[in-house]
Amino acid sequence: MRPIIIDTDPGIDDVVAITTALFSEKLDVRLLSTVGGNVGIENTTKNTIDLVTFLGEDTPIAKGASEPLLGETRTASTVHGASGIGTYQFNVEGNKSLLTKVNAIEELHNRIINAHEPVTLVAIGPLTNIALLFKAFPEVKANIEQVVLMGGAVEGGNATPVAEFNIYADPHAAKIVFDSDVEVVMCGLDGTSKTSVSAADLEKVRHQGAVGEMMYEMLVHLKKGGGYTDEAIAIHDMCTIMYLTHPELFTTKRAKVNVATEGPAAGCTVTHFQEDGNVSVCVDTDTETFREEFLKVFAD
Ligand code: BDR
Ligand code: CA
Repeated sequence: MRPIIIDTDPGIDDVVAITTALFSEKLDVRLLSTVGGNVGIENTTKNTIDLVTFLGEDTPIAKGASEPLLGETRTASTVHGASGIGTYQFNVEGNKSLLTKVNAIEELHNRIINAHEPVTLVAIGPLTNIALLFKAFPEVKANIEQVVLMGGAVEGGNATPVAEFNIYADPHAAKIVFDSDVEVVMCGLDGTSKTSVSAADLEKVRHQGAVGEMMYEMLVHLKKGGGYTDEAIAIHDMCTIMYLTHPELFTTKRAKVNVATEGPAAGCTVTHFQEDGNVSVCVDTDTETFREEFLKVFAD
């Protein structure tokens, strides 16, 4: 099993990604670290604790940064709802003992340094925690296999005409991560918009027990909040996990990525395709096969 740590801001598509990772026999989720993003840190941490408790798992959870390195805090509650998970309510008493004693930056450091094999970091929220980790403890980079992140786009944006939300929410942190010498996989909007399911697919998971009901209710909310059609409801964050478990579904191209941090282009990931870049950019997704795999996870 591949050791991974997921840095996350649940967020509906974060919930889908985390659940898929916890269900996978290929992945060993060692830690979930939380970050403020879609909603504030208190909610993203609560949602993570409630989800892990609901799933009956015991994955440790470390609470991370509440705001970006610089600039104003931006959320996506119009998409994910005020709580971050739409109108869904976990009917559980979240197990607070899952929370680590130290904060996310220290916990990430300890877990990565003490791991016997290189760890893959999956980042599906703003990159604040990862940037702080790289600055405070640069030695961790030697034991990171790669950073697989949901963020950015070769073209276009969803937070501004040129910026994707996770990068826009903390462009300075994103710049630190892309400029590091760590191997990065960028699952940006070009690939993640096609990591989508249909409303008919959601009907198939709807009656598959408590997990299926949760998925259904949350994804119906995401469809409305994200303004998606019945044909293509993008589950952006799930792209990162599927990239690890089913890399054959994705087309990637090597690149160097520069992040604009200020002005009207803030959050734009300026992508230069070049073989010697440190980034594999996901430029396309096999949507049909992705849907089949999604149904195998949630409707089988
Ligand atoms: C990204 O932004 C968030 O709203 C989602 O959870 C995802 O990580 C998509 O742009
Ligand atoms: Ca997210």
